[in-house]
Amino acid sequence: MAKFKVPGDWGSLKEDIPLTKERVDEKARHLLTQMSLKEKIQQMSGSTPLVRGLWDAWLAYNMRPLPAGENKRLSIPAFCFSDGPRGVVMNHSTCFPVTMARGASWDTALEERIGDAMGVEARSQGANIMGSVCINLLRHPAWGRAQETYGEDPWHLGEMGAALVRGIQHHAMACVKHFAANSIENSRFRVDVRIDERTLREIYLAHFKRCVDEGAASVMSAYNKVNGHYCGHNPHLLRDILKKEWRFDGFVMSDFVLGIRNGKAANAGMDVEMPLTIHFGKRLMRLVQKGIVSEEVIDEAVLRILRQKIRFAQIGRPEQYRPEAVLSPEHKALAREAAQKSMVLLKNEPVGDGFHRVLPIDTTRIRRIVFIGKLAVKPNIGDKGSSMPRPPYVITPLGGIRAAVPRDCEVKYHDGRVIKKAVDTARKADVVVIIVGYTHRDEGEYMFTKGGDREILTLKPRDESLILQTVAANPNTVVVLMGGSAIITEAWREKVPALLMAWYPGIEGGNALADILLGKVNPCGKLPCVFPRSESQLPFFDKRAKSIEYGYFHGYRLMDKQGQEPAFPFGFGLSYTTFAHKNLQIDRGEIGPDEDLKISLDITNTGSVAGEEVVQVYIGYQDSHVERPVKELKGFSKVHLETGQTKRVDFLLAARQLAYYDEQQGKWIVEPLTYSVYAGPSSKKEDLLSVKFRIRE
Ligand code: BGC
Repeated sequence: MAKFKVPGDWGSLKEDIPLTKERVDEKARHLLTQMSLKEKIQQMSGSTPLVRGLWDAWLAYNMRPLPAGENKRLSIPAFCFSDGPRGVVMNHSTCFPVTMARGASWDTALEERIGDAMGVEARSQGANIMGSVCINLLRHPAWGRAQETYGEDPWHLGEMGAALVRGIQHHAMACVKHFAANSIENSRFRVDVRIDERTLREIYLAHFKRCVDEGAASVMSAYNKVNGHYCGHNPHLLRDILKKEWRFDGFVMSDFVLGIRNGKAANAGMDVEMPLTIHFGKRLMRLVQKGIVSEEVIDEAVLRILRQKIRFAQIGRPEQYRPEAVLSPEHKALAREAAQKSMVLLKNEPVGDGFHRVLPIDTTRIRRIVFIGKLAVKPNIGDKGSSMPRPPYVITPLGGIRAAVPRDCEVKYHDGRVIKKAVDTARKADVVVIIVGYTHRDEGEYMFTKGGDREILTLKPRDESLILQTVAANPNTVVVLMGGSAIITEAWREKVPALLMAWYPGIEGGNALADILLGKVNPCGKLPCVFPRSESQLPFFDKRAKSIEYGYFHGYRLMDKQGQEPAFPFGFGLSYTTFAHKNLQIDRGEIGPDEDLKISLDITNTGSVAGEEVVQVYIGYQDSHVERPVKELKGFSKVHLETGQTKRVDFLLAARQLAYYDEQQGKWIVEPLTYSVYAGPSSKKEDLLSVKFRIRE
């Protein structure tokens, strides 16, 4: 039975009148002057007692908010942490589709609403800081925690992450993680990511900067090392870049338990050890007494924490924070909408007579549907590590379709274990839907016995045989994939007429899937990561690596560079309607390095149903002094269009967003060059309109 606390109350830090930034700072400084060294240091670590922490972790990890820095004497409340990326992990909260799925929605307004819902559910259960904004870049689809992030592209990651920050921060602090270059799971506690400064800044950090600019209250350091230093002890990342260069005024917390190795992390810029006091507390006190950590370092950290506490004490809508707000009908509906908008239709080709397509399934004509596969009846919501919510129900694919079809349409089910029997059932059906893919056992946070980085990037050989034999018996077959990132489909893709990527679609996933299969909802998701044809198209990955080189190119950038064809390009996704992209225009042919360019194009819905299209803008570079990607994403927008409707979509591109990082000079350079603007429905060359402009000296 869920136990609810009174809304995460900020007590006397809340003032009657709104506070300016200056006033927040003044108030924080005033509090600091009243604190002893011991009190200051006590602000800097989680206050869960070790034994209780271990006990909770064993019984039910993350079931209550994890507090840090309560000071009763000065009436400073604790901040109370809860995960995670798919929704609040405590009690029976709403479990949304995984972050990668929401990345496929390319819908920042929707993501902000999801953040808002998470914030309300967190505050309703006594938490006031959420570890939800995971924006590590997907470098390779084998990464076990791929599902916790939005995809492979820094621009897309930044926009989606910033939207979640905005939504959560209507109510609670957002914690952005894991800073930085955290994209191998099994060796996360020791791997050293070797990376040059330009790659680090342009590819692995740009999206963190975007979330910092959005006002994120907190950043969580990663477990891994970057260029020889653990991220929690990395002064270049934490001090030089995050705090000095980006002027981040929030606080840095460690990833849990192994996020720092000793109290000297404070010198590197670590502000809070979470969730227990192991290396900070008394040990940090001794380091200060010995002069190894200065009191200025402590003051700086504490000021950062106090400022955010005071800032967030003024934020929120307490009247909304009540038990009924958790898993409310509105949040369930939002979870369903998110799942509908994140499924990606990858293939939908004519079958048989060459005129009809399997999808959408027309239940006025179809009498018998067969669902095949164990995942059709499994509540498959993804990883069971720190990001796992505990919803009281999950609508499975079979549950969803059974609730949706009319009475005179029969839905049969076969688990597919005995392929021959499944094929016999399929043969008699009008339409067959095979649900295959991964579960938390195949990918997720590494829990020693399960999860971790993936063993394979294809489906399991049995599932591939199941697909091939079924489609040979009945060509009216749809394959629905579940998983947290790209899946290699070479062995069977050509044979299958219809293919849908459903990811881990959350509690309402089965209903959303039925909505799409039956055409009640038009699919509009687009891939947030490239789906390769083979592993050889990807960068090197080693889940046991102690040290690994991260180069500049991965994903679509790497495939473009090498002239490779993916199975499905980044940004790709079909619809039940068709769209035409026309009249790409720019407002000027030349701009200065501090100016903006306006880019516009027309999108028309040329099909017979309403739909949503994600318009994407990529930029290419001609004769740059440095090696550049063939093109890279610099804008996107999701547009709803009724049949026959045309909308003009505008993008504003600042010249400085095209800068590269010059390692020698240690600064960003906007090159005077000719640039190409590409715009269209995916990153595929043939899909894109183009126009050129120049940036002058
Ligand atoms: C994960 C973090 C998470 C933390 C608290 C760690 O194991 O890496 O992402 O926020 O646990 O649940």
